Amino acid sequence: MNEPLSKATTLERRKLLLGKNLSVAYAEPIKVVRGHMQYLYDDDGRKYLDAYNNVAHVGHCHPQVVKAGQDQMALLNTNTRYLSELINEFAERLSGTLPNSLNVCYFVNSGSEANELALRLARAHTNARDLIVLDHAYHGNTTSMIDISPYKHNGPGGSGPPKWVHQVPLPDLYRGPYRADVKEASARYAQHVIDAIARLERGALCGFIAESLPSVGGQIVLPAGYLKSVYSAVRNAGGVCIADEVQTGYGRVGTHFWSFESYEVVPDIVALGKPIGNGHPIGAVVTTREIADSFDNGMEFFSTFGGNNVSCAIGLAVLKTVHDEELQTHARDVGSRMLKGLQQLMGRYEIIGDVRGSGLFIGVELVRSRETREPATIEAAAVVNRMRDEAILLGTDGPFHNVLKIRPPMPFNSQDGDRLVETLDLILRSVVH
Ligand SMILES: Cc1ncc(COP(=O)(O)O)c(C=O)c1O
Repeated sequence: MNEPLSKATTLERRKLLLGKNLSVAYAEPIKVVRGHMQYLYDDDGRKYLDAYNNVAHVGHCHPQVVKAGQDQMALLNTNTRYLSELINEFAERLSGTLPNSLNVCYFVNSGSEANELALRLARAHTNARDLIVLDHAYHGNTTSMIDISPYKHNGPGGSGPPKWVHQVPLPDLYRGPYRADVKEASARYAQHVIDAIARLERGALCGFIAESLPSVGGQIVLPAGYLKSVYSAVRNAGGVCIADEVQTGYGRVGTHFWSFESYEVVPDIVALGKPIGNGHPIGAVVTTREIADSFDNGMEFFSTFGGNNVSCAIGLAVLKTVHDEELQTHARDVGSRMLKGLQQLMGRYEIIGDVRGSGLFIGVELVRSRETREPATIEAAAVVNRMRDEAILLGTDGPFHNVLKIRPPMPFNSQDGDRLVETLDLILRSVVH
């Protein structure tokens, strides 16, 4: 058997063979060769606690999910033009987790495709084009998704939004323009949406899209009442409300199965991705019968791989595992203990400006001064690299990349959480002093 190539050679070959704007995590990259539940293993056999990869929702290479995929792959894998109970069952179980009105499913292959389709559904239903988006949002890598993602089109290499995209402030109670009084802030952020609608021509509004707990924006918990007011204003103007649950669904936020539920709203269209295939590329859109009927306008909808038998078998196994292993309650318990631990660290380290999140979806915002809230971007990168050296994987996010992002596979347990908090404590001590 050939000797495995060294990490350095793999990095060199990657630079030659792949596009340069594919980034690599950490100053000292990791060559991962194996994954199991909340752990990743590198080419030297070192075991890392994964506190970052939400895609491996029920755990890296969860045996039940692997088996479901292997068994189905050996039996049949074809497309949605043939009848199969697998896709029906997946659709039935998936819509069973959502409010009753959301009962028609479409399957695609990624979160980007799910949001693309959500946009097409919204346009077909409203006969309108203009969309309201949150600042710093990210909804995918395709042309239209870059158009509706300020994080991309306003960032390096971007060329701004097209005319049909209208950006409103991210309702960030820590860093945004309105902070102190939650009720007032919520109303003022919502007013931006109402004002944006008022500036449009009558009948021009297609809809509003937002993550229910904006992640790229810095793990932002939306103020209570915000989505309620926004959804109502959008619907009054003839638009539809799209919830991007690509990162936040499937029990991750602990209190609810879907993040939008914690704000007591029901979207018209929900876009899903990352966790639903546990690493197998599955995206899905769930909507109302009324919107689905508007989309059924004579043009066939077909995705070669979307809804194939293997994807459906895997999707079902993931959903079943989330339920059987009670991962939502687990996320709530482990997450609230970790939040408390992180809040205690905030009491000791000035550099922690804010700790926020829900369940196993947490952000720790680092600042140079609590007064000015100057982002501690360099320090955040240093902390993440030091955590990596201690075999704990985290990332950063937010417009200034100063928010430590904690979003582990769901089997991550209380001992893992304690270890993360204790290690962060040691590292902050050396970064700060
Ligand atoms: C909120 C959100 N929506 C959509 C996407 C796009 O998903 P994908 O990379 O599967 O196309 C992402 C990916 O990071 C995301 O975070």
